[in-house]
Amino acid sequence: MENEEINVRISAAQGDDSNFDTSLRPQALDEYIGQDQVKTSLRIFIDAAKQRGESLEHVLLSGPPGLGKTTLAHIIAREVGSSIRVTSGPALERVGDLAAILTNLSNGDILFIDEIHRLHKTIAEALYPAMEDYALDIVLGKGPSARTIRLDLPRFTLIGATTRMSLLASPLRDRFGSLYHLEFYTHDHIVEIIMRSAKILKCDIDQDAALRIAQRARFTPRIANRLLKRVRDYTQVKGSDTIMLSFAEQALDTLGIDTVGLDPVDRRILETIIGKFQGGPVGLNTIAASLSEEMETIEDVYEPFLLQLGFINRTARGRVATEHAYRHLGCTIPADLQGRLL
Ligand code: ADE
Repeated sequence: MENEEINVRISAAQGDDSNFDTSLRPQALDEYIGQDQVKTSLRIFIDAAKQRGESLEHVLLSGPPGLGKTTLAHIIAREVGSSIRVTSGPALERVGDLAAILTNLSNGDILFIDEIHRLHKTIAEALYPAMEDYALDIVLGKGPSARTIRLDLPRFTLIGATTRMSLLASPLRDRFGSLYHLEFYTHDHIVEIIMRSAKILKCDIDQDAALRIAQRARFTPRIANRLLKRVRDYTQVKGSDTIMLSFAEQALDTLGIDTVGLDPVDRRILETIIGKFQGGPVGLNTIAASLSEEMETIEDVYEPFLLQLGFINRTARGRVATEHAYRHLGCTIPADLQGRLL
């Protein structure tokens, strides 16, 4: 695989974020809304390294998708004035792919590996000495004539991002100098993000329309911004300059996003657990097969929000729908469930 395909080099000075939605993403820590604890710790971590004139220690960012892990990686690079090279776990197929990237870095550069939990075991193992000793051991040849050469690497900083901390091998996890976990945003922070984005997009939005979008944005900035753009489209086509509550509601209804932010797939998951499996417990693989969805997608993308809303519980025997889920879908709550939860 060609290097150009597996990673994008971005100069901090250029500010060219070709791989992501630059317009709406904050460029500096001070512009970043929410995640206050993470921001406070990161600020100290960055300033301390800058004062010492050292490169940053490796950073691991974890949390559900869409909460800003990639954005934070770019912000860190910008704050320390470094170039960032972006790749992802599944994009690295061979140790040679990793070697090609690492040997092209300069001192202080940042390597961002998204979905780092999906790295092949052999590649993750090649990362250990790279992270610890800034060296890469390459095995040349096979069998009795095989030999290892050690390549020296620049003092780079690895920023790893993962939606699944539990899948990360502990030797890899232990080599990060700091770990930050991103939580779902508060409703108020999502409103703030929507107002900020509307300003950047140069569209007028009524406060109650912003509140309504926030209510359905799954506490996730990426979704809030996506919904805002779709509501903006709707408003424009209806011939208005201002996003009003009625437009927001109509547009969100058209998209199939319900009052608490569930989309059609979320609802199908709940309907499957309740309708086909009597409320569970049912294994995730069974739910996935029944919906023809990837198990990983359900676990990474849908389940965190359903857990956050308290619509499902994880038990040792599988997923169960809660009373809230029955109520939300307008289903009759089974007597035993009422007894269990009340
Ligand atoms: N856009 C997306 N995420 C954001 C955040 N955390 N703060 C400000 N704007 C954002």
